Amino acid sequence: MKFTVLTFGCQMNVHDSDWLIRAMESRGWRAVEESEANIFIINTCSVREKPEQKVYSVLGRLAPLCKNPGEFVAIGGCVAQQIGKGFMEKFPHVRLVFGSDGISKAPDALEELAVDHEKSLVLTDFVPEYPERKGGGFTGNTDLVPYGIGTVPGQAFVNIMQGCDNFCAYCIVPYTRGRQKSRSSSAVIDECRSLVDAGIREITLLGQNVNSFGLDKKGADLSFAQLLYEISAIKGLERIRFTTSHPKDIAPEVIRAFGELPNLCPNLHLPVQSGSDRILKKMGRKYDRARYLGIVAGLREVCPEIALTTDIIVGFPGETDEDFEQTMDIMEQVRYESSFSFKYSDRPGVAAVRMQPKVDEQVAQNRLARLQERQNRITRKSLEALVGNEMVVLLERTSKRQEAGGVAWRGKDPGGRVVNVHFDGMDEAVNLAGKLVRVKVSESKNHSLVGSRLGEPW
Ligand code: 5AD
Ligand code: SF4
Repeated sequence: MKFTVLTFGCQMNVHDSDWLIRAMESRGWRAVEESEANIFIINTCSVREKPEQKVYSVLGRLAPLCKNPGEFVAIGGCVAQQIGKGFMEKFPHVRLVFGSDGISKAPDALEELAVDHEKSLVLTDFVPEYPERKGGGFTGNTDLVPYGIGTVPGQAFVNIMQGCDNFCAYCIVPYTRGRQKSRSSSAVIDECRSLVDAGIREITLLGQNVNSFGLDKKGADLSFAQLLYEISAIKGLERIRFTTSHPKDIAPEVIRAFGELPNLCPNLHLPVQSGSDRILKKMGRKYDRARYLGIVAGLREVCPEIALTTDIIVGFPGETDEDFEQTMDIMEQVRYESSFSFKYSDRPGVAAVRMQPKVDEQVAQNRLARLQERQNRITRKSLEALVGNEMVVLLERTSKRQEAGGVAWRGKDPGGRVVNVHFDGMDEAVNLAGKLVRVKVSESKNHSLVGSRLGEPW
């Protein structure tokens, strides 16, 4: 069977798609370009309105490609969870809908539908426990894929939990991904070990709210901090990251880990959402700016070079100019390396839909533009300050821009910054993806660094 996967949304979706591709390939299916495919899998996101709308335009585009028996669309992810069977009623070329917990059964379902052309299936039930996936936890059985391995050589993602219990007032995730379900710590650790054995150098632990790992399990054996220490001790693992963290749940032991664990990258995504206490309260975030700034100070005390990034929403219902200035102010105080910022958008069923007054679209747009402009300046300055530094870069792929007399590779430093490294006199055919190299930074750009290597990659 020839199939293709189109992925929208967050890192969890990217990781889910990677797993699904491997799971299908291990059953003899072949991942191909869209133009060659018979079966189209769309992994969807509904966190904001824009990505949700993309699903409908893709469905329209794919309809003419599903005219023959055996050609169909499968929809997974958050929009699938939300709309469910409704997709099939509106779009007859959709024959499989699978939600967050349903993905573990998607490979069997896809095989079934590829044979039985009359059938369609809906897998949107939530299950009470984290659904382990076949291929998760490499058992040595070669038809099971070590599933954390994604598309970037040397790097892997490991799910540690699924879902969220926080119900922030703007957020659809608790409805689409369901209640928080932690994976067992032994399954997580075993998977990390098998990935390192398979040559992985950097592992990113994934979950909607990784800091509350284990809290949903009565008698859970490890806290998130303990899990980090266990994984950090795996011999041969060079780098660990984790995402996403809710500030209210970050334990002092996790902060301390940034000062103690040599392979925990000095890099943390800590979504602030707003700098105004009044708006944070309306959002139901359960921290205020003083507490947030206290966490930042604690992190910088144990790890002064930590690169912090964030998510910010502007134009949340009731946000005044004064509230927005508070957000600008917290950005200025924390000086994030980079941030993702969004205009608030109403999502079906969330509490903020009923909150008034809504902020005028143009006002929100202007706030967003101001904020992004400020962030760009902060990003440029912090990158500039790194010129002349030495750092270790994990190489990913050859850079888009090449110069004569060698080859440039793109990779990331421990802080998560993009670094383009020039290898003088090196042949383009030499594959350095997944290798580490010591680099001296020679130049900073708007969103990246440029450097040259010091010594041989390893
Ligand atoms: N409107 C705008 N942004 C949102 N986010 C989540 N829900 C909404 C919404 N309704 C943003 C938050 C979150 C990120 C993944 O998306 O900033 O951290
Ligand atoms: Fe959404 Fe809040 Fe849960 Fe994050 S913590 S997924 S913003 S409800």
